[in-house]
This record gives sequence, structure tokens and C-alpha cells, in this order.
Amino acid sequence: MLEFFGPYSINGSIEVPGDKSISHRSIILSSIAKGKVEIDNFLFSEDCLNTLKILKKIGTQCVVSGNSILIQGNGITGFNEPDDILYVGNSGTSIRLLSGLLCGCSFMSVISGDKSVNNRPMDRIINPLRAMGAKIYGRYDNKKAPLVIFGKNKLRGIKHDIDVPSAQVKSCLAIAALFAEGTTEIIQPEVSRDHTERMLEYFGADIKYDGKHTIIVPGKHLIGKDIFVPGDFSSAAFFIIAGLILKKSKILIKDVGINQTRSYLLDVLKKMNANIEIKNERIKNNEKIADIISCSSKLKSVNVKKEAIPNIIDEIPILCVAAAFADGITTIRGAKELRLKESDRIKSISNEFKKAGIIVKEYSDGLEIHGSHDAEIKHPARLKSYGDHRIAMSLAIMALKGNRKVSICNTKCVDTSFPGFEKKLLDLIKK
Ligand code: S3P
Repeated sequence: MLEFFGPYSINGSIEVPGDKSISHRSIILSSIAKGKVEIDNFLFSEDCLNTLKILKKIGTQCVVSGNSILIQGNGITGFNEPDDILYVGNSGTSIRLLSGLLCGCSFMSVISGDKSVNNRPMDRIINPLRAMGAKIYGRYDNKKAPLVIFGKNKLRGIKHDIDVPSAQVKSCLAIAALFAEGTTEIIQPEVSRDHTERMLEYFGADIKYDGKHTIIVPGKHLIGKDIFVPGDFSSAAFFIIAGLILKKSKILIKDVGINQTRSYLLDVLKKMNANIEIKNERIKNNEKIADIISCSSKLKSVNVKKEAIPNIIDEIPILCVAAAFADGITTIRGAKELRLKESDRIKSISNEFKKAGIIVKEYSDGLEIHGSHDAEIKHPARLKSYGDHRIAMSLAIMALKGNRKVSICNTKCVDTSFPGFEKKLLDLIKK
């Protein structure tokens, strides 16, 4: 449980843990590549550790030292049949990306997750993987996990139009494509995060990508190269917003990944009148990194455009917190995917914001938030996280604005993506 009795200010400088999406991809793609890869600043969170455990169960050799990992990749034929069920816990990224890999291997596997993962849609990967010739089966008429994979079939490349933009689906197919015969072409209705494409390119794959279009030609060995995992922009977002909404605040967040397909929140916040500075921009292993400074601001409301939703999807809960303390009505529509995340995030936000006295309207595909720069949480509140890490951390930042006791229950889930969040926050806030 987290508990705050504010209001607080936040000042100082921090580094946030490594990017979750890049950490998953770094160990998966290094395992498929040939050679040794040293991965620095890997995110040792529950989600990424579940991916690592599964890779070890199918034969990947790895050595952990401090916050880095050394992976010995053995190429696409270097995996063995696991002797047990592969368990991803709460991680949608693990189950979707690893299913692409397992379909390309020559053995049987069963992959499963916790209650939340086993309730999330898997037909979005099962259908195209079957079109590639994979033998993959799921519960509920092939819609949900656990998934059973008979990886004996040779896969073939396909052209696939994804109806809902999703980096997880695109990456699943891109990984399966490495094991296939013939070219795979993936087309999406909107641009989603492109870390898989960037890392495949960095490892020398035959890949072309341009916004909504990704083409992979298999056959070329991936050659592993060392990786520095940038700080996770989605984790930085909690501190960026804290800096903006709290009075007398200034916070510097160092070495954050600002890949264009991830950092659209910065554009939205600029439209909201946010006082944010980006410094020291540079490229490391094909990913853009920078330092971000965020200061107290008089925010105003914004309308988020539908096309940008995939580039801000994980930051919407914390953007809603910014909206609650921005003058005017903020609308976020075209975001029904939010209902299919670790919790139904539209419902989670709407329920808990109402408990804190904020006016929220819930739509099937989004939210409307009535905010005010001078808003405060004026009565004690006991809020729920729904076991969803991003809801828990967003509510914690909102609680800093309270001048009453605000508690957030069931916050163990924060370890999914941001171990050490509470300590970092407590070290920087002051009454
Ligand atoms: C992720 C992609 C996004 C995001 C998730 C991580 C990834 O999901 O919400 O937290 O690492 O590819 P979708 O691709 O399903 O939108």
C-alpha cells in the first residue's frame, strides 16, 4: 500500500529503470542471434524476468551481473523443448513475442500467464501465425491463453494487415518471420512502437520499415551486438507529470529513451502548456536518448487525436492525472484498446478519479476529464490499483496533490515495470 498526505513539491534528479519493451526484445533477439551480447541497464522487473526464465527453459545461456546480462545466442536452431509449462505472469509482451519464436521452433510448448494475461485477446496473434502455417491453439476457441504450440511445421512468410495497431502483434509476426520461408509483410492502420524493427536492423537483419509498413526477408543470420537499454519513457512519464502538476517543482530525468513512436506524450504536454526541456539528445544502438527537465506549469486541457493513441497508449493513465490538474475539459477518444490492458484502464481511471472527487465521463473508447489547475483532493480517499502497475503509479502521483490522506491499495504490481518506484518518489518529494 502507498499512502500520501500532501500537498508536496518534487525536486532533484533521477534515472528511471531500463525500458521494458526494449529489455524484452534485447534478450529475445539476442537469443535468436549468433554470438555474445552484453545488455547493460536491463530492466530486472517481474515482466522481463519472466521472459528471461522462459528463454533459459528453452536453452538460452545467460549470465547476470549487476544490472547487465550476458546472452550467448545460438541462432534460430539453438532452442530445446522445455520440460514444463512456460509461465509469463502478468506480461502480455512476453506471451505475444515468445509465441512468435516458439512457433518457429521444432518442439511442443505450452505458454500461460496470470488471470489478467489469460483473459486478454490472443486471437490477434493466433490467426496470423496460423496463416503462416503454425500449429497454435488457445482456450476459448483459439482466442485466449494458455496456448499450445506444436512447432514442427515450417512457417511461410505472409502479407498481413493488422486491424488494431499493436507493436506486440507486429513483433510476434516479425520474430516468426525470421524462422519462415519467404518474405513477411506487416501493414498497420497506425504507427506503433518500432523497437523490434530497430533492433533487428542493428543486428543486421534484412528488414525494411517505414511507419505503418514492415517487411522482413528471412535467411540472413542475426549478429548480436552489445545493447544499452535506455531509461523507460513510460516510467519517466510519472515523474515528468509530477514535476508539472506540483507547485515549486523541477525535476531532471536522465538517459530516457525518446524514440518517436513512444514519446508522443511530450507533444501532447507541450500543447497543454507544459514547461519541459529536452537536452543532450543522442543515439545509442539505434534508439534516441535524452535528458528531460520538467517544471511546475499552468496546464490547460487538450484533445488527443485518435491516430496518436498507439504512441501514447501506456501513458494515458498518467496523462489523465495531468488533465485533472489542467484548466478545461480534456478528451481522449479512439482508445478502446485501453480496456484490454493489464486492467480495463478506462474503467479503473474513471472509478478511482471519481472517488478522489474529479469529474470524469467514461466512453466506450475513451475518457473526458474535467480539470482545474487549482484542483485539490479535498477529502480522504482509499483508491484501488486493480493489480495494474500503471494505474497504481498514476494514482500515487495524483495523491501527491491531496491535502488529505490518500492511500492506494494493492501496489505490489508496481514491480511489473518499475521496481524501486516508491523509494525514488519518496526521496524527491517534500511537503
Ligand atoms: C508493448 C506494446 C504495447 C504496450 C505494452 C508494451 C510492447 O501493447 O501497451 O505495454 O512492448 O510491444 P500493444 O502493442 O498491444 O498495443
